[in-house]
Amino acid sequence: MGRLVIVSNRAPSVDGTGDSGGLVVALKDALSEQGGLWIGGAPEQTDTPSASLVFHQRPDFDIALFEMEPELYRDYYLGYSNSVLWPALHGRVDLIDVQPHYSIAYREVARRLARQIADIVTHDDVIWVHDYQLIPLAHELKALGLTSRIGFFLHIPLPDLQTFKAIPDWQDLAGWLADYDLLGLQTQRDLGHLINIFRHTLRGELRANGNMGINGREVVLGCFPISIDVQGFRRLAVEGAAQTAPAPMPRLIGVDRLDYSKGLPHRLLGYEAFLSQNTRFCSNVGLLQIAPPTRDDVDAYKAIRSELEHLAGRINGSFGTIDWTPVQYIHRSLPRDELAVLYRYSQVGLVTPLFDGMNLVAKEYVAAQDEADPGVLILSQFAGAAEEMSDALIVNPHNPQDIADAIRTALEMPLAERRQRHDALYGHLEKHDVGHWSAAFLNRLLSVEQADPEWLARVSGLESRARTG
Ligand code: ADP
Ligand code: G6P
Repeated sequence: MGRLVIVSNRAPSVDGTGDSGGLVVALKDALSEQGGLWIGGAPEQTDTPSASLVFHQRPDFDIALFEMEPELYRDYYLGYSNSVLWPALHGRVDLIDVQPHYSIAYREVARRLARQIADIVTHDDVIWVHDYQLIPLAHELKALGLTSRIGFFLHIPLPDLQTFKAIPDWQDLAGWLADYDLLGLQTQRDLGHLINIFRHTLRGELRANGNMGINGREVVLGCFPISIDVQGFRRLAVEGAAQTAPAPMPRLIGVDRLDYSKGLPHRLLGYEAFLSQNTRFCSNVGLLQIAPPTRDDVDAYKAIRSELEHLAGRINGSFGTIDWTPVQYIHRSLPRDELAVLYRYSQVGLVTPLFDGMNLVAKEYVAAQDEADPGVLILSQFAGAAEEMSDALIVNPHNPQDIADAIRTALEMPLAERRQRHDALYGHLEKHDVGHWSAAFLNRLLSVEQADPEWLARVSGLESRARTG
């Protein structure tokens, strides 16, 4: 194989700062072992974007930034990606804002990016595209005659066919997805949805090996539940806790971008019901909700912020006393080491999204616990993580009573049961960390048979332009 080429909307930082979480940690080793390149959107937009990728060298891997004009970026990122695809794929079709210029910008970004990528990759390179912002990329790369293997991983959920069909460009989207060689989803739930979408839209045929025959070629499908750096996160929590005092009273913690998919108002309603039904806990427990801003130029995000702040104010006004604030709300990001200690010193982790691809906070909360005296995870049945984490207290986030009951059960749970649940959750996570996830995806991508350049040139009518590196 040649190089591993990662493509995502957000690139890691050029100087390596802020790499402590998520995808960069997951892919750093694979990139530096195999010689790699990460291509992503430049952090700042410019009126005079470069016509080619702008390279930066880090000691571990190279970064190539893709520049865009502010208007194009706005229509592609805030517009199509986050005002059409994000709400639709999270089942919030009521929030879709359909604008023709959003679709145009979305395709234009993929087209331009594909041209710049095609200039620098070869037949032997393996390309791994991440997330909903870049779905048409394989289509555009293949139209340019590129024969490298191209995989795609969707970090967010894929809804059922009927919901998917609410997206005006649903047929195009299905076709673009089918142009990848490997499609990875987070859960069996989403894999089932994808199979149904392909069957219905492209007459896809499910084969005995679990892949799909579409238009004479096989698209490899797989379920790859993403995870975290379990050992690394646990270490942060243990080391941080050694230097910090525990919270003065039992604490519930929620950590989420302030996104409408995270079910934050529902969580507060559940907590409010819990306090009103279990008054002995008043003054004896607190909820810490950390919810940093995200995409706040989109109206739906402004709305969720005021709803959350209104509810937090109402609960504090109704139940609070001079010495006790029932809801502490922090509207900013915290360093990961601080977050790890806050999880460790919280008796209950509240993860109650209405729909979520996976939810890494659930995994971070478990990884951070003290195994001798662990806290309890309350987890929405609609988080992808619920497929793997059945030893959490699973709740329906739409039902405040369910959340209220789970909070009481968690706070009253005997140590033996807490330990037994935590052992099961942690045992699974230890074996299924983020390294396991990236290796599983890459191994599958490398096992995919590579497109024959002549065949590809014939079907795309681009004989003279086919590149073989
Ligand atoms: P999503 O990808 O939709 O934001 P996840 O739960 O999968 O949801 O991942 C969120 C990531 O962002 C986690 O690693 C979490 O620790 C991090 N995060 C969320 N809120 C904060 C915060 N206030 N400060 C620092 N990191 C945060
Ligand atoms: C989710 C998406 C990512 C995205 C992240 C933060 O995790 O799956 O693709 O990068 O949210 O959102 P933002 O819009 O700030 O990149």
